Amino acid sequence: MTGVTARVPAKLNLQLAVGPRRADGYHDLVTVFHAVSLFDEVTVEPARRDGVRITGEDADRVPGDRDNLALRAVAALRGAVPDGTGARGVRVTISKRIPVAAGLAGGSADAAAALVACNELWSSGLSQQQLCEVGATVGSDVAFALLGGTAVGRGRGERLTPALAPATQYHWVLAFADGQLATPDVYAALDRLRGEPGDVQSPRAGAPRGVGPPEITLPALDAALMSALRSGDATLVGRALSNDLQPAAVSLFPPLRKTLAAGLELGALGALVSGSGPTCVFLASNADRALELAVSLSGAGVCRSVARVTGPVPGAVVVSP
Ligand code: C5P
Repeated sequence: MTGVTARVPAKLNLQLAVGPRRADGYHDLVTVFHAVSLFDEVTVEPARRDGVRITGEDADRVPGDRDNLALRAVAALRGAVPDGTGARGVRVTISKRIPVAAGLAGGSADAAAALVACNELWSSGLSQQQLCEVGATVGSDVAFALLGGTAVGRGRGERLTPALAPATQYHWVLAFADGQLATPDVYAALDRLRGEPGDVQSPRAGAPRGVGPPEITLPALDAALMSALRSGDATLVGRALSNDLQPAAVSLFPPLRKTLAAGLELGALGALVSGSGPTCVFLASNADRALELAVSLSGAGVCRSVARVTGPVPGAVVVSP
């Protein structure tokens, strides 16, 4: 076999409820993931040793060999399959359309696509569940990029339950920012806004009772959002969008406030920062409204560029060459 190509979507979080920071530095989440029609493609080919090449959007901003999530996924899969099958090297080529460090889980998406493609290249025969377990060791959002659709994520975001939503197609406008945000920085900013201690080595449990900031409530699934998704009513979904990371992202990237306000003024049914940002997401009632909104937003000068996408879409799949 020569090469195998997989296509993988970007994700939005329709709800992102963030709990207190855990002793391992991560935060327990309850989130509603939603895969949208903005895709990267990842091709894997046999090679003497592992390497990665990136083309397309933001190619120069994607980490190279050592830190590349797709290559880390290849190594993780190699460790998980029976002896020999995955011992060979792999050349990974990523064709990027999902912007880097934009809150759309582009790196996790590439890792998911690499897993699906290598599973095929090596005829490893791992199930989607097994791939999700391997993926979760690489990044919190990799399991969802494998699953796609709309799903509730818990834990770090890797424990998934597909959402029983009707097959409604939602029309979204993405406003890409002129800049990037690193996910750890945004979580750290949220901790600061909440008055959490800055040192991971000194967990809150060690503090005397009654001293320090108020307890942060445990994250819970938003019943209004789930009911809106079950009804398939975009107006209700738009009203129920929420993201606990938004104030943190806006504090690090103040122009986002203007972008969000502009989208709402222009008639979006709902607006929020995507994940850790800085991409902003707007829901429109149909394809025509999405087009109008996209044109007006790009004319308003409140973002670098815009894209219209729909969701939900399936997760990472092998595509014909
Ligand atoms: O798992 P992933 O590598 O995508 O996470 C990137 C960073 O985002 C983590 O190092 C952590 O700082 C933050 N994070 C978190 N809680 C989560 C997911 C991510 O604090 N549930």
